[in-house]
Amino acid sequence: MDSMDVHPKYPKLLPAQLRRGWCVSRKINKIYSEVLSKELTDKLLSVEGHITPRQCATLFYFAYTQPGPGTIVEIGSFKGKSTVWMAQALKERAETIKIAAVDPHINTREKEIVPNYKEESSYDAFIKNVSSLEVNEWVLTIKKTSEEAAKDFNQAIRLLFIDGSHRYEDALLDLELWEPMVNVGGIIVMHDTKPTGPFPGVCRAKNEYLKNSPRFKEVIQLLNLTVFKKIS
Ligand SMILES: C[S@@+](CC[C@H](N)C(=O)[O-])C[C@H]1O[C@@H](n2cnc3c(N)ncnc32)[C@H](O)[C@@H]1O
Repeated sequence: MDSMDVHPKYPKLLPAQLRRGWCVSRKINKIYSEVLSKELTDKLLSVEGHITPRQCATLFYFAYTQPGPGTIVEIGSFKGKSTVWMAQALKERAETIKIAAVDPHINTREKEIVPNYKEESSYDAFIKNVSSLEVNEWVLTIKKTSEEAAKDFNQAIRLLFIDGSHRYEDALLDLELWEPMVNVGGIIVMHDTKPTGPFPGVCRAKNEYLKNSPRFKEVIQLLNLTVFKKIS
């Protein structure tokens, strides 16, 4: 065992999953910090939103490294934090695809459907953030619910990020509607999957649809975000 195999927090216990996750984490940290300047990283992080810096870096990594063909779809953009991180990855690679950023941007004031915010809509802030980060060229704004948007969508997907409504039925529906469009070899990222977190319904949908299925392999489990690869 070399020193890279010793986790600082768990030096004795090394389940394969932890070791695999840790190796991916190292790659994630390396890529975004090599590609982005400190100034740009700070600007991207300053967008108001509901994902942590580590989760932003993870989205950046998969948008930057996940090979085509296919596009990127995000369910639940809010004010655009996750969107601008993935769009920046496409910009850095001079890609010609756009992220389909799906969100009705309606403030329903229901805890499981939207975060707590005061405006009637997150749409104006989303447009302003995408524009001020200069990533408009890589974003296709779809101001619809996941269910409405899926009806007209017919592109293959290489990276699917799910962070829309956090009700069990809605999270499961997001998977049922969009997963069939993900290429074999493609990546599915789900946010708010922590089993003891405030959204047990998301965790349940993730377990039922992805974790318990032989068609998907867990690539990395952060505290509150899980990444799967579609293997068949
Ligand atoms: C937790 S926020 C997303 C946070 C965002 N990813 C970020 O980086 O800050 C959840 C978003 O999902 C959206 N949403 C709720 N129901 C939805 C649905 N059925 N389809 C698509 N988006 C939905 C809400 O409008 C809200 O903006």
